[in-house]
Amino acid sequence: MNMLPLDILIAEDDPGHAAAIRRSIEKTYPNAIISVVMSIKAYREHIAVTIPTIVIMDLNLSDGSSIDLLAASAGEAAFPTIIMTSFGSEQVAVEAIKRGALDYMVKSPEVFASIGVAVAGALREWQLLQDKRRMELQLKESQARIIQQEKMASIGQLAAGVAHEINNPMGYITSNLNSLWKYAEKLAQFIEIQEQAIEKCSDEDTKKSIADLKRQIKLAFVMKDFRELIAESLEGSKRVSKIVQDLKSFSRAEGNDAISADLNECIQSTLNVVRNEIKYVAELDLSLGDIPLVVCRPQQISQVVMNLLVNAAHSISGKGLISLATTQVDHTVEISVADTGCGISPENMEKIFEPFFTTKEAGKGTGLGLAISSDIVRKHGGELLVKSEVGKGTTFIVRLPVEGKRQ
Ligand SMILES: Nc1ncnc2c1ncn2[C@@H]1O[C@H](COP(=O)(O)OP(=O)(O)OP(=O)(O)O)[C@@H](O)[C@H]1O
Ligand SMILES: [Mg+2]
Repeated sequence: MNMLPLDILIAEDDPGHAAAIRRSIEKTYPNAIISVVMSIKAYREHIAVTIPTIVIMDLNLSDGSSIDLLAASAGEAAFPTIIMTSFGSEQVAVEAIKRGALDYMVKSPEVFASIGVAVAGALREWQLLQDKRRMELQLKESQARIIQQEKMASIGQLAAGVAHEINNPMGYITSNLNSLWKYAEKLAQFIEIQEQAIEKCSDEDTKKSIADLKRQIKLAFVMKDFRELIAESLEGSKRVSKIVQDLKSFSRAEGNDAISADLNECIQSTLNVVRNEIKYVAELDLSLGDIPLVVCRPQQISQVVMNLLVNAAHSISGKGLISLATTQVDHTVEISVADTGCGISPENMEKIFEPFFTTKEAGKGTGLGLAISSDIVRKHGGELLVKSEVGKGTTFIVRLPVEGKRQ
């Protein structure tokens, strides 16, 4: 039972009708706060400041038809609406209900007299609708979580498998390259000493043929280049090993406890995994600030950063810029991911955190990235903020408490 007095809004431009409706409601709800507006303009002004418990609205107000004010579906409106009209028509009734009105009534002295009862019925129905809506949302969220968990688990398994397969050959490639480097040094030394010995040789023909061969095989260049080639290959193998390491840490089970983690390091690892996705569409401006360790589950924060980076890359057509920065703000650390992509329209902005909301073509997006990311950030006691301008770009900010979530 609702203990607060009901806040009822009557939108009616006929003062006589408004008074009759008010009298009927006061009989059923003596404590209700009842307001009357006479135009669509006044209605809009009223609901901008107060969300009424219920609205009883005339179909035609002095400045237009009120049907357009209804939400597309009753479940999505912030409050229930009963539409009243002087001249009943089945078509209008159906239209009003379709547009989200909870009830539709044709004005008559009897209807005015029973409006209090109609309000009670509408409120009950509204409560049921709200419960249904909440349960549907909970169901969608748990479905999303399960799908994402499975998605992450299979990505994790795949990553772990690939990492394992690459790890072995990478081990001997690196070790062989190191030996090769040492051998190359020895060979270089040996050749140098031989050259000095040849210089001293008195057999001019031998000296000339050796000098010709040296030129022919470009020995000076080979000596310089083979060292560089080995150094470059060693550098490459170090990078591959790093990626393998990241894949392994990424695929580790996520149920682990929160630890004090260096988020800059965590971001670097994530970047190694997603850099490929980014590099063809955007320059990356990385500005990792001086931040303290943060109590968190670093794998999960990596997952959030990865989702944001992939989204940023997807938002850019042609070539753009993605700026990734970390900073400390009071007792929080902020990770911001900004892109110069297509931006998000105000109507999409309301939905981007909903599970399964995606504007991407089938197969490219499941619409889970942001839903899961915001869930992770919330569970860390933080916030995921977004600002965007269509055509200019979008900035997401992950704000995490340094000390972790308060228990
Ligand atoms: N940086 C961005 N710029 C423009 N639009 C974005 C950006 N990030 C998210 N969006 C919009 O929000 C929607 C939802 O994003 P979300 O990450 O939840 O799902 P997705 O990227 O479509 O699919 P998934 O991440 O599951 O593969 C996107 O489809 C896109 O319309
Ligand atoms: Mg995404």
